[in-house]
Order: sequence, then C-alpha cells, then structure tokens
Amino acid sequence: MRKSKICILGGTGFVGQQLAARFASLGYQVLIPSRRPERHRELLVLPDIQLKRAGSLNQDELNGLFSGVDVVINLIGILNEKGNNGLGFQRVHIGLTRKIIAACKHAGVHRLLHMSALNADPKGPSHYLRSKGKAEKEVLGVESGQLHVTCFRPSVIFGPGDGFFNRFAALLRMSPFIFPLACAESLFSPVYVGDVVDAFINTLDNEESFGQAYELCGPNQFSLKQLVEYTSQQLGMHHLVIGLSPGMSCLQARMLEFIPGKPFSRDNYASLQVDSVCSTNDLDELGIHPTTVDSVVPGYLAQQSTRGRYDKYRQLANR
Ligand SMILES: NC(=O)c1ccc[n+]([C@@H]2O[C@H](COP(=O)([O-])OP(=O)(O)OC[C@H]3O[C@@H](n4cnc5c(N)ncnc54)[C@H](OP(=O)(O)O)[C@@H]3O)[C@@H](O)[C@H]2O)c1
Repeated sequence: MRKSKICILGGTGFVGQQLAARFASLGYQVLIPSRRPERHRELLVLPDIQLKRAGSLNQDELNGLFSGVDVVINLIGILNEKGNNGLGFQRVHIGLTRKIIAACKHAGVHRLLHMSALNADPKGPSHYLRSKGKAEKEVLGVESGQLHVTCFRPSVIFGPGDGFFNRFAALLRMSPFIFPLACAESLFSPVYVGDVVDAFINTLDNEESFGQAYELCGPNQFSLKQLVEYTSQQLGMHHLVIGLSPGMSCLQARMLEFIPGKPFSRDNYASLQVDSVCSTNDLDELGIHPTTVDSVVPGYLAQQSTRGRYDKYRQLANR
C-alpha cells in the first residue's frame, strides 16, 4: 500500500528536520518547501525526502504544493518580527495559517497537524502568544469529516541544534563571569524534541486526536535562572547569574532589540510574564514517557565546553 505523502512546512527548522527524518524512516514520502533549499541539502541524504524551493507561500503556491498531498504539517513560526507592531506575527502565524487551511480544502488534504505554543491565547500578553492563539483557534475551528486537525502546544523544546540551551551557551561564552538575566524567575518545563516528534507520529492516525490540542512538557519545571546556571555548569564555566528586576529586564529587552537577530525583545519579555509549564502534560495521554533535560543536554553541550573543545582539537591533531 502507498504510504501517505506529507508536506512539512518549516521542515528545514530545528523540529522540522527531526520530524522529516522520522517520517522518512517510516516510509512516508516527505515534501519540504523551503525559501533557501540550498542551505539544507543534508536533508536529501534521507530516503524519500523532496526539498522544493518556496516563494512567498501565497494562496496559488500553497494550492499547487498540496496537490497530491495527504497530510500537511505546519511548523512555520517566528519568535521575533522585524518591527514591533505585531504585523509580522499576524502575517506569519495567522495569515499563513488561513492560507494553509484554504489550500488543504482546495487540494483535498485530509489531515492537518499544526504547531502552536504553550500559553498561545488570543488574549495573551504578547503579540507572539496572541497570534499563535488566534492561529490555533482557526485550525481547531475547521475540524470536520473532510479535514481532521490536531494542534500541539509545547513549552520550550530542547535537543541537539536547539535555540534555547545552544543560544544561552553562546551568550555565556561571551560573558565569562557575570550573567545578568531578565525574567530569571519565569518557569519552564523543557520538552525533548524526540518526544515532540513522537507526539506528531502517535497522533497522525489517531482518531481521538482529531480536533484536539495537546500540551507538551518535560517531566520537570525549572526557573530560567536554574536553566542558565545549569548551562553554565555544563560548559564548565560557573557564572554568577544575576536576576534583573522587572524594570531592568524591560530595559534589557529594549536594548537587545537593536542587536541583529534580536536575541531578546519587549515581545519576548511580555511572553515571559506567563510561566511556560503545563496544567496537564498530554505526553502521558499520547503514551510518551517524557525525557529529562539531564539525560540529553550534557551530550550536546559537552561539545561546546572548554574540555569538549580541547578533546575535539586533540582528536583532529591526532588524525
Ligand atoms: N523551538 C522551540 O522551543 C519552540 C517552542 C514552542 C513552539 N515552537 C514552535 O514550533 C515551530 C517550529 O519551531 P523550530 O524551533 O523548529 O523553528 P525554526 O528552527 O525557526 O524553523 C522554522 C522554519 O520555518 C520556516 N520559516 C520561518 N519563517 C518563515 C516565513 N516567514 N515564511 C516561510 N517559512 C518560514 C523556515 O524554513 P526556510 O527558511 O527553509 O524557509 C524555518 O526552517 C514554530 O512554529 C515555533 O513557534 C517552538
């Protein structure tokens, strides 16, 4: 029997690459549209993966992309926008989601899996959370016999190549002793990327998941300060992490907005006003035993530690 054809929007990203690899290894045909496919040629070593150059993902392009596709997975998301008025978030999270839904209907796609975020809420404190919340509502609103939908609401996701531990590791290496930290007491329940991928796989054909949204968390809660201190320890650096007051956190966000790539913004600050922890961890319901931070993170941060880098250079020198 022919395995389903899956189109993964955002399939070149941190979560997308892992998801694409798993679906391909299970025998699915995977189509990944990308604005810059030449940067992701490593994906082509996987069987049955097709990388396709994407344009602006307008309605016509999406209609065409989804022709012959059985399942669409939408992972496209941004943490920051160019300006500060919410329009970028609206365009990427809400506008694009509407077009994806319309294209699914146009092309007769029967399954849509949509990545949202924990605390996504049309009335949330930040443009990011409000736009994610509105998009999620639109997706859940189209559940029908023709198009079955499921949404996922993860806390921060960790794993090799993540944008959380790796980003803090890079920042910590630039500030050797003291690390001033905004929103230090905000709580997170980091969830392993492999568990997130399992959640997508386990729900794909599960009728009970139709029209549902699942909160995905790890087994433990940590304050941001604890996670940054942990990262520093893993790098063998032992920084003094100093939590900033709300006023100073806001000021730091204002200043860092001007740095290319916006490592922190006022909108991020607003998102951090709600703890990123689950009311009930739905990984359990999906039959997934959540993975701890400590069983995975040291493995990839070790490569960035002083000792790890020394070992790597020594290995290279001995070749
Ligand atoms: N990572 C986390 O901790 C976390 C936590 C909660 C929720 N989420 C959500 O999970 C999803 C995946 O996260 P991720 O960390 O894997 O993201 P990521 O690494 O940034 O990847 C997102 C992908 O989406 C595509 N993309 C980004 N902006 C786009 C745009 N304006 N138009 C078209 N394509 C665009 C990019 O592909 P190309 O450049 O190849 O086109 C990129 O590879 C996102 O929706 C995110 O909000 C992530």
